[in-house]
Amino acid sequence: MKRQLIAGNWKMNGSFAANEVLLRVLAAGMGGATCQVAVCVPAPYLAQVQGLVVGTGIELGAQDVSQHEAGAYTGEVSANMLRDFAARYCLVGHSERRQYHGETDAVVATKAQRALAAGITPIVCVGETLAERGAGRTEEVVKRQLAAVIHTNGHCISEIVVAYEPVWAIGTGKTASPQEAQRVHAVLRNQLRAATEQADRMLILYGGSMNAANAAQLLSQEDIDGGLVGGASLKAGDFLSIIAAAH
Ligand code: PGA
Repeated sequence: MKRQLIAGNWKMNGSFAANEVLLRVLAAGMGGATCQVAVCVPAPYLAQVQGLVVGTGIELGAQDVSQHEAGAYTGEVSANMLRDFAARYCLVGHSERRQYHGETDAVVATKAQRALAAGITPIVCVGETLAERGAGRTEEVVKRQLAAVIHTNGHCISEIVVAYEPVWAIGTGKTASPQEAQRVHAVLRNQLRAATEQADRMLILYGGSMNAANAAQLLSQEDIDGGLVGGASLKAGDFLSIIAAAH
């Protein structure tokens, strides 16, 4: 059976002091974890966290990557720079990037390509807004978002991780019911099956207000292979409970 992945998304939170405490408590509490665990941290903390996770079983992730390889792109961080910090994962196309930074499906697809070329696994986020959901367009939206990444990345598509994050569930305390989430995950799995023979071993994570109380039910769904956890990943006890609920 494939191991699930629980990835924390710290977003724009943290400090040297807080990161150190959080990771020390996580490392101490990870004992019997059977799933894979990662933390996606703000770029300035990559070096610190790279050092803190050594020997803990926790893997390092970034939250974004430039669509460009190198050059005159002030403020951007390239995939090769992330590789210098031995980042294993990078979030790509998080809804906050799509919404506040105008990232299009095409930009997200190129970012995934840059990560893959640097040997970093992109965690490609897809998800519908509340309005899109209300209009019955969930399937159409997530399929369009994933199709762009499939189209640009060809046979490498089997190397990505997908995260279904309904935008209306992010940071709101509202989660998709396990059945609703499973339905969308199955749609995404079928789309991947049409693109690669490896689809059944690929990971499709759920994200959006996953917490200690709802994780077990979500993670027991057939096509839910882990979680992308925002708020609850900043509280060691909550994150450890989610890790314990995964396999
Ligand atoms: P949340 O965020 O768990 O705080 O809803 C998830 C995410 O945005 O990745």
